[in-house]
Order: sequence, then structure tokens, then C-alpha cells
Amino acid sequence: MRVTGTGHASMRIDTAAGSILCDPWVNPAYFASWFPFPDNSLLDWASLGQVDYLYVSHLHRDHFDAKHLRDHVSKDATVLLPEFPTSEMEDELRALGFAKFLKAPNEQVVELPGGLKIMIQALTSPTDGPIGDSSLWVEYEGVRLLNQNDARPTDLTVFAELGHVHAHLLQFSGAIWYPMVYELPQAAKTAFGKQKRDRQFDRTWRYIDDLKADHVFPIAGPPCFLDDALWQFNDIHGDEGNIFPDQSVFLSEYAKVGGTNGIVLLPGSVAEVTTEGATTTHPVPVEEFFANKVAHLEEMRERKRGVIEAEKASWRHPEIDVLAGMKSRIEPLLDESIYLAKGVGGPVRFDLVGYDGDSVESIVVDFPGKEVRPYADEKVRYRFRTERALVEHLLHIDEVDWVNSLFLSCRFSAARIGQYNEFVYAFFKCLSTERLQYAEGWYDEHERAVDAEDITLGDWVVQRRCPHLKADLSRFGIVDGDQLTCQLHGWRFDLPSGRCLTSVGHKVRAHRVDAETPAPAGEALS
Ligand code: FES
Repeated sequence: MRVTGTGHASMRIDTAAGSILCDPWVNPAYFASWFPFPDNSLLDWASLGQVDYLYVSHLHRDHFDAKHLRDHVSKDATVLLPEFPTSEMEDELRALGFAKFLKAPNEQVVELPGGLKIMIQALTSPTDGPIGDSSLWVEYEGVRLLNQNDARPTDLTVFAELGHVHAHLLQFSGAIWYPMVYELPQAAKTAFGKQKRDRQFDRTWRYIDDLKADHVFPIAGPPCFLDDALWQFNDIHGDEGNIFPDQSVFLSEYAKVGGTNGIVLLPGSVAEVTTEGATTTHPVPVEEFFANKVAHLEEMRERKRGVIEAEKASWRHPEIDVLAGMKSRIEPLLDESIYLAKGVGGPVRFDLVGYDGDSVESIVVDFPGKEVRPYADEKVRYRFRTERALVEHLLHIDEVDWVNSLFLSCRFSAARIGQYNEFVYAFFKCLSTERLQYAEGWYDEHERAVDAEDITLGDWVVQRRCPHLKADLSRFGIVDGDQLTCQLHGWRFDLPSGRCLTSVGHKVRAHRVDAETPAPAGEALS
């Protein structure tokens, strides 16, 4: 089996029974904030795009690059489609010209002509990608590969059960706006960033240990930030709180925990994977490439300046009345929302900075009051500050997912009082009736589910499944004194009270081993 690195989470898998192109991403994503690193725009996409199969793991724009898919991927390719709850991915691909689809039943091995086998695991909680993320398992003539990309399954048992895996490709770096955009003192940001960076690595080691593949390929990040306004997010400034470590940092951190089987794929690297081993060739030596990382980024920044400027010029739509636009898009959804609105629990304020860089229009999305209105000098728990032009553009293109556009752009700052609230982001990625209904139904089902099994961790008996997204705490839970951390997403819980310290709601059931009666179980939404 041949695996060609094509940048970020993208790869082309070649076997004698067919080729699969995964997640090709070349054009900047999220308001021209993210670019693939290392640069992959100079690869021979005309031939890379001539494939038998296309697999897009999810709709995040650093995986689903509509322009590139339209222009550079053969429409004869059969799309291997994850079993997602909504038809959005299929609809978007059909609109781009794809017509052949193989809907892979979730977690079932499908045998394709010629003996190529695939299995796709779809993750479908409202916090997995834009309503869905997935991983692809491939087997050909006894060689097995898992392209986990940035999916976060609770464990990898379903793949491990299919036999020993030879190549495991997974995310290790950051892909979010936290903590950089928060209006916090620099020292606090650095401390939070460092914690997050450590947690990302820790989670990666656990997945690697779960699967025990012969070879581990760090993929799906980091992106690079080429706009001058975002340049500081590149991990080239010696900031230990930077959440975007690159593949060479992965190799050195992996070595510290005893990892010796890491293989970095640069765009254009080719790994031949067999049951016996792997041989890899690179377009340039890997160490040399990373030693010249700053020069690579600076050269790319100059080359892409025109692309960024052209994108920026398309954002302003002065004819749009933002308050009226937000009202008509959001208020009907507030009316329909029960769980998400209750989970947010208060007003969310948007401070929109005008073209002059000075004037600010403040708009409140009032979840309890179910309306969008001008800010009325009230206290708010959550506040976002961004350019008005970005929201004008979201309204202009009728964007239903403000996470997969505005928030991932990192072109905003945020402040909050109290804990992180996942419902805020869940709501703003569900600005369509279809998505909102799905998310509401999901929470309804999961909040009602009784999770009865307990495990012992140190001096504590706790429920086995994490109150967040049901990770197995016997694998991901760490107890330190009276605090439990679930390493899957890093959420922390105060065990004596059961309170979640990371997000609103989500109480954990726990009691001391020697306690006579368990503490009462909490409601997930309180
Ligand atoms: S499953 Fe997300 S923190 Fe536990």
C-alpha cells in the first residue's frame, strides 16, 4: 500500500485495487486565516486528483475544500460517504459535480472491487465537527491503515478488532481558537496554552497506545497563519503556550515517551507500507525542511499575500443591516431551541467593529428572551468582538455554521464570566432548522440516557463514561486528589461535588471508595 502525503490531513492511498484521495485541502480556509502547512499548492494536483475514490472525513473547511474538489478531483471518483445524520456533505458534493456515492454503513467493513476493503466510523454528536466527523480504515492484501485524522472516537476498539494495523495517521496539534482569542493577561494565556498543548500530546499518545500500529504518521495539523494579523499564531516565536506544534515537535515529544515509529509525511512524501515495514522517500530531507521553517513561512506569506487581499476585499457588504439579518436568521431558531437555549442560559453579546476600526455596534442574542436585539447595557456572560464585515459576509452567504467560518478564523476576541459553555458554540454551528433539530434531538436522547456503570479510579468510584461525550474514563480518566480530568477533551470535574469545572452542566457521579452512600447523580443540564 502506497501512501502519498498531500498536506495537512490529506493523503492519497494507492493499491492495485484502486486509489483513494482523502481530504484534499489547498485553498485558505476560515476567512483566509488557515493555510496548509507545509505548502501543498505546488503539487501535481492534475494527476493526484485522478482517483477511483474520494473520501472527505467531514465538512470542516480544512478538510472539505469546495474549490479544490470542483477544479482538481475527477468527477468519475466514487465518494466514500460516512453515515452522517444530515445529507449536507452529499448535497455539497453533488453540487460540485460528484455523482457516484457509496454510503458506507457505520462501522461495517465494505469490500470494494478488487479486494480493497474499507470501513468508516462516523461520529455524530453535535460537538463532532460540523455535525459529524469520521475516520477511514483501509485494508488491502493484509496491510491495514487507519486514517483517524482529527476524529476523536472514545476508543479505537472497533478498528483494533479488525486485525493489527500497520499505519495509523492521526492528529496531534491544535485546531481551535482557545486560548489565543481570549481577553486574558498574557501569562494566563500562556499557562492555558501550555496545558492544552500537553493535553493534545497526551491524548495522541493514548490513541497510539490503543492501536499499537507499526507506524504512526502525525497529520491534520498544524495549519499556518499567513495574514500579518494572525502571524503570531505560528509556532515559531518560542511560545511554550502555542497550541500549534508541528510534526518535528511531534517527533521529539514522541521520542520522550519512547516512541520510535513516527513517520512525517511532507507534501510529496511517499511511504510504501507492507506487513513487514515501511520505506519512505521525501521531496526534501525532513530535518532540513523544519530547520528552515521560518523561511518557508515567510516565502509563503509573500506568495499568498494577493490571495488574502482578494478574499478580504469580498467581505464587506455595507448594504446589509446586520441587526435585521441576525434577527431573521437566529430568532426562529431560538424559538425552536430547548436544550441549546437552556444550556447557553443567558445573553451572548457581539461587538461588531465598523470599517473605520473605531465604531462598535453591540448586538445581543438573548437566549432566555428568545430575541436578537441591541445591547441594553446589561451584564452578559459571553462576549465576542469581531469585524462587522465578517458578520456581513456570513449573512450575505447565508452561512449556517459560524464555527466553521467565523470562530475557526480566530479573527475575533472573546471574554466570558465563568466556565466554557459548549452550548454557545453548538448553537452557532446549527443555524439551520435541520441542524438545530438534530442537535436538539441528540441532547434530548443523551440527557435522558442513564449511564449506570461505575469504575474505581484511585480513591474514587466514578461513572465509567465521561459526562461530556461518553469517553471511557477507565482509559481517559486521571484522578489527581479530588479532581478528575478526562484527557479526551481535557474536561475537569470536582469529585466531591460532581461539578464540571470546564463547562456548564455535565455533572459527574462520584463517591469515595470508602463512602457508604454514593453522592447523588447530577443532571447534565443545570
Ligand atoms: S469525552 Fe470529552 S472530556 Fe470526556
